[in-house]
Amino acid sequence: MSNQIRVLFVCLGNICRSPTAEGVFRQRLEQSGLSDHVGVDSCGTGNWHIGKAPDERARQAAASRGIDIGHLRARQFRPEDLEDFHYVLTMDRQNLADVRDIWLQQGGTEPRLFLDFLEAGHEDEVPDPYYGGNDGFERVLDLITEASDGLLADIRARLD
Ligand code: 4NP
Repeated sequence: MSNQIRVLFVCLGNICRSPTAEGVFRQRLEQSGLSDHVGVDSCGTGNWHIGKAPDERARQAAASRGIDIGHLRARQFRPEDLEDFHYVLTMDRQNLADVRDIWLQQGGTEPRLFLDFLEAGHEDEVPDPYYGGNDGFERVLDLITEASDGLLADIRARLD
């Protein structure tokens, strides 16, 4: 589908935040009837977890909100992603700096912070929950859910 809009979520490991964003945003697209028009993927800047399923805590937290991310498998960001995706959205400023370095060398889609789409605009990073407790994963879901609404509105305007 050549006129599909493609969205890539990027974090460090691709086992906590970005697969959660992929699952949440895909659910929002299904609810909005836009699944055929928008493609979604996620990846990590690091290579430690390539091929792994999402962290058990992220799976549980998403499942508690009716979202299954258990089938996702981690992959690493690749420079071609900047050509293949229309939105390259990072979870924190370090992910942004890492992807931005590549964008400065080769161009393509300019990466942005996902939380640029938060309507309230009070936070700019999705905090890394990996070394914390379960409440960190709930916070990740709350921020991602809120920013997904803003992203959906931006995409709708593009599709119109
Ligand atoms: P993510 O979380 O970037 O949200 O997937 C992390 C996962 C793994 C590690 C760090 C963050 N790690 O250091 O292995």
